[in-house]
Amino acid sequence: MCGIVGYVGPRSALEVVMQGLRRLEYRGYDSAGVAVISESGELRTAKKAGRIENLDAELALAAGQSDDADGPMAGHTGVGHTRWATHGAPNDQNAHPHSDATHRIAVVHNGIIENFSELRSGLEFAGVELVSETDSETVAHLVAAELDAGAPGLAEAVRRVCCRLQGAFTLVLLDRDHPETVVGARRNSPLVLGLGEGENFLGSDVAAFISYTKEAVELGQDQLVEISREGYRIIDFDGVGVEGKPFTIDWDLAAAEKGGYDYFMLKEIQEQPTAVADTLRAHYLDGRIALDEQRLDSSVLREVDKVFVVACGSAYHAGLIAKHAIEHWTRIPVEVEMASEFRYRDPVLDQQTLVVAISQSGETADTLEAVRHAKEQRATVLAICNTNGAQIPREADAVLYTHAGPEIGVAATKTFSAQVTAVLILGLALAEARGTKYGDEIAAEYEALQAMPALITETLTVIEPVRVLAREIADSKAVLFLGRHVGYPVALEGALKLKELAYMHAEGFPAGELKHGPIALIEPGLPVVVVMPSPVGRPLLHQKMLSNIAEISARGARTIVLAEQGDLMAAKHAAHLIELPVAPTLLSPLLTTIPLQVLAAEIAQSRGFDVDKPRNLAKSVTVE
Ligand code: F6R
Repeated sequence: MCGIVGYVGPRSALEVVMQGLRRLEYRGYDSAGVAVISESGELRTAKKAGRIENLDAELALAAGQSDDADGPMAGHTGVGHTRWATHGAPNDQNAHPHSDATHRIAVVHNGIIENFSELRSGLEFAGVELVSETDSETVAHLVAAELDAGAPGLAEAVRRVCCRLQGAFTLVLLDRDHPETVVGARRNSPLVLGLGEGENFLGSDVAAFISYTKEAVELGQDQLVEISREGYRIIDFDGVGVEGKPFTIDWDLAAAEKGGYDYFMLKEIQEQPTAVADTLRAHYLDGRIALDEQRLDSSVLREVDKVFVVACGSAYHAGLIAKHAIEHWTRIPVEVEMASEFRYRDPVLDQQTLVVAISQSGETADTLEAVRHAKEQRATVLAICNTNGAQIPREADAVLYTHAGPEIGVAATKTFSAQVTAVLILGLALAEARGTKYGDEIAAEYEALQAMPALITETLTVIEPVRVLAREIADSKAVLFLGRHVGYPVALEGALKLKELAYMHAEGFPAGELKHGPIALIEPGLPVVVVMPSPVGRPLLHQKMLSNIAEISARGARTIVLAEQGDLMAAKHAAHLIELPVAPTLLSPLLTTIPLQVLAAEIAQSRGFDVDKPRNLAKSVTVE
């Protein structure tokens, strides 16, 4: 949801910022823009609606027309932005950076300033002419006004303005009259600081500067940072100096590059065995399950009497799998809620409630607000997150990090598998804390989990028929997905992937529910993907599912059945059979999801869509 970069140092700011924007483009791609302070001390801006290539073309044009030997954008201090539109259409005018009337200040913004109408009216009343429809432009004018009113420097001017803003924002700003610094500020939206030698960086996430440094500093809520070549200074919005939290980035540049694949998503699908293995490795030490951060007494987990899982999108589907595992292993009742609904319906929470917030980014606004609501009600919050130090884990009482590495494709793939792994680990951790399983039983479950990376690899090697099938059904009007038990969240996940990547009508249903209405959708030739339960693990469900397949086949559906190797009955009923390795039922989503990811990616490619950047979407959704 908007990517932001800031740089000050000896390099070409334009190059650093543009490279950062390319790495952050997954956060939004409605427009892109950059501002630098030129050698001659002017604020120079270039911005363009659409993808970064449009901005590249604009910059090339400007360079061609410039008399300046180094080009018009030569300079060593700069900011950049890649936008996911909220206020105002995705056009050139609304693209960031925004400026004040004298073109002294450049600002880039991620988030929504909720009191923007009031601030805008105030500015208009004072005679300021705003040129865009954005909430962000107001900040440039307000900061310029603070400087005119005597604020001693950009940082103080920004601090004063931040105290007047409501909502969520990350701001990064330049002041033409002080080219030696860049200022950033954050509330409810992410901003990290990258530390170089004689240079420093700001970014919405570490991918923005991973090519230059692995040393970073987390910024807390309501904090402001001023960077220069020599160092940095952090203060809170009251002006009090604070220490940032330093950390070292634990993944390599290669993780943020396509590595020979056409799309990041295809690479990330292949990285799933590693994502699962790394997540498992990090959480089982000396025969015991270990969380990453635990700011609570272990008796709290022992006394939990109810669990809520809150999450959005794919993470919500991982939550539905959590329900099966936690209830089965611990007998604690579990409710799974879409985070966007949770706090608005007054859920019953108390000190013995554990709220599990699942979010790969750790910055999804709906999930963050659900966490805050849970904490207000004195529930314990445990976060499952893929991003070190993001806001959700910072506010949680305990954290279980997934170790999937950076995911650049907008659609969740390896982070989903890592989340499924994490919820299974959590289920075992709760069973251990409550004593509902003996140590040797937990060890046996963990051993079964540790076999999964190899089974995922095996699944990935037999995926070619899915690609062929995807091309055959790419022109279908719709695709339905059916599952039962843990196969139902997998069906939902398969449908979500297809909707978001291929822009096709796709829906997931519990197979037994079909006859209560949705079966009316079946017409001859309609592809229906069926996630088959194991004939050995869930024989009764398997039987029921065969009946469901018979019902839809009788009405002409083209059945695509995902079944365990050796499931002869499923083979008999399927128009197309996709055979997967045998795995324990609760762990099987780690395998059954994979063909559905491949199906969606391949259909999207056949239909000519950008698999990594589906329309209208952004990877991190930092607005409610
Ligand atoms: C779907 C997808 C989204 C995210 C959702 C939550 O492929 O990626 O549905 O799962 O926006 O994001 P996080 O996990 O960052 O909270």
